[in-house]
This record gives sequence, structure tokens and C-alpha cells, in this order.
Amino acid sequence: MATTCLIYCFTILVITISALVPQSTSRIIPEASMMERHNQWMARYGLEYKDVIEKEKRYRIFKANVEYIESVNNAEDKPYKLSVNQFADQTNDEFKKAHIAYMNLFKTKSSAATSFKYENVTAVPPSIDWRKKGAVTSIRDAICGGWTFPAVDTVEGITKIKGGKLYTLSVQEIVDCFNEGKNGCGGGFTTEAFEFIKQHGLTTESNYPTKGKVGTCDTKKEAEPVAKISGYENVPVDSEEALMKAVSNQPVAVSIDAAGADFQFYSSGVFTSQCGTTLDHGVTVVGYGTEKGKLRYWIIKNSWGTTWGEDGYMRLQKDTNAKEGLCGISMEATYPTV
Ligand SMILES: *[C@@H]1O[C@H](CO)[C@@H](O)[C@H](O)[C@H]1NC(C)=O
Repeated sequence: MATTCLIYCFTILVITISALVPQSTSRIIPEASMMERHNQWMARYGLEYKDVIEKEKRYRIFKANVEYIESVNNAEDKPYKLSVNQFADQTNDEFKKAHIAYMNLFKTKSSAATSFKYENVTAVPPSIDWRKKGAVTSIRDAICGGWTFPAVDTVEGITKIKGGKLYTLSVQEIVDCFNEGKNGCGGGFTTEAFEFIKQHGLTTESNYPTKGKVGTCDTKKEAEPVAKISGYENVPVDSEEALMKAVSNQPVAVSIDAAGADFQFYSSGVFTSQCGTTLDHGVTVVGYGTEKGKLRYWIIKNSWGTTWGEDGYMRLQKDTNAKEGLCGISMEATYPTV
């Protein structure tokens, strides 16, 4: 007995100490090792600064961010973690300007009530993950045309679900051809992308590849669609129950408030952070589920590459007390019809 305890207790002690050491040391990182971390981080993301002044400025921001990230991660009551990701040398304001391109824009375009084909759906499974059903393409990186991604994602999804192939569809076609390219890389509404796809269908990414900038519309390729939709419908606002009915049938495009620091550095777990409802970012809901039998979440496909979140995805808390949902997820949701 005593021997067992000795081995067992010793193991526990070692585990406990090894779990504590990195945390307790990380609270008092000496300046030199923080600089070393900044250098390593720069190497990892292939970054170089134009001069020492810029590097000094970025180092200060990096340091403040690392300290913030570690303070959140050391708080034991949070079911999510942050990480020192690709945004670690940007202030939250810089991050918002660079990656939250259409601040407040969604609000100006209210989603009109449309018919909701899933209103009478009763058989809603407790969880669904469209990735596991092969209806979700790889994570994109929003260099150009990020505003089209939720629409393109959901059209890819419904095309596959209705018995087609999982095509990676062309973002560039919309960027070049919609509104004569005037919306450009940065700005547009999900519904405008749906409108374009309704009129022209959409060809594949391999046929009309991403260029990273706006180009002239290739009308020949525009006339070679592999996916078509008949239109799009809005999910009734402020109802996660309605959103669940829709997501149980297909991926759904939503607008959320993604401007918070915890959103910027989100790494894993169920995101339960304080969040606003200023809709500023489009993402795609590709499923939902329950963590450890109680904490319910939506599965969000984002467009900040795979180094953000859970390989590019976030699990965002579902069924909070707010009717708008966390980060306003139930305020503006749209899906294509075929
Ligand atoms: C839902 O059921 C109601 C009552 O039977 C019916 O009027 C309505 O058309 C149905 N909605 C859909 C989308 O089928």
C-alpha cells in the first residue's frame, strides 16, 4: 500500500510541479527571454521589420499581448485558451482595421424577413458537424475577397449535401465580375455574393484561381459554373433555435462581432468571452455540439488561416441568455437555396 502510494503520490507530485512550473515562470519572464520569444515568433511567421524603431515598437506590443494572453490562460475558470498567434504584434485597433474590414457595415443593411424553409423542422439532431460529412472545404485566408467567403462556403456545402461533389469554388470570379470589380478585395455584403451566384452560378477555384487582387472579369470562365443556387433566405433574427434548425440542414453564413482581443488571440476550447453585438465580420456556421455534456457551442469556420483557433475554426458558446446569441450570432444568418 505504502509503496503504491509512494510511487503514485510521487507521480502526482511530479505532474503537479511540471504543470505549475511553466505557468509560474511565465508570469515573470525576464526581458531577454521575451525578446527571444519575439525573435522566434518573427521567424515562425517569416516577419521582418523595416528598422529598429519599428522592431522596438512591435516588441512592446508583442510583450503586452503575450502578458494579456497568459493572464487569460492562467485564469482557471475559462473554457477556452488564447495563443500567441500571427496577430501577436498588432494592437487590437490595428487588428480591427486590418482584419475586421467592414466595421458597422452590416448594420446598415437590415436583413429583410424572407420565407424560412426550415420553420417546421422538428427532427433536429443534438449535434452535427458538416466537416465530418465532407461538406466543408479547406480554411481560406482572407487576402482578397474575404467578404465573399461565407456565401461561397455555404454554396459549396449545399452543392455537396444535395448530392453533388465538394467543389472548392472561385472567390476570384465574384471579386472580378460582381459590380465590375468595384467592391474589390475588401468590401461587400454576403447577400451581394449570393445575388451574384444566383445570377451566374460559380465556377471552381482551379478554373478561376485566386490572384490576391482585383482583376478583369473573365467572362468565358464566368459562363462555366459548376454550382448554382435558386436564391437565399434569412434565418428569423434573434433565434438560436431557428439557426439550429437551419444548420442541421446545411452550413449557414452569419455575421458576428469579432473585434475583441480574445477573438483576436483565440486558440482552442469553447469561446465564452464577453463579446459585443456590433456585426463586423462574416463567418460560416458548419455545425454545433456539446462539450463535456453541458457547454453547447456553434462550430465557426473563419478565414484567418489555420494558425488561428482550432485549425482555423472556433467553437463559440451557443444558447447564452442573450437572444442575439454570443457575439450576435443569431442576428444575421443567411443560407442559399437550390
Ligand atoms: C409550416 O406549417 C404551417 C402550418 O401548417 C404552414 O402554413 C407553413 O406553410 C409551413 N411552412 C413551411 C416552410 O413549410
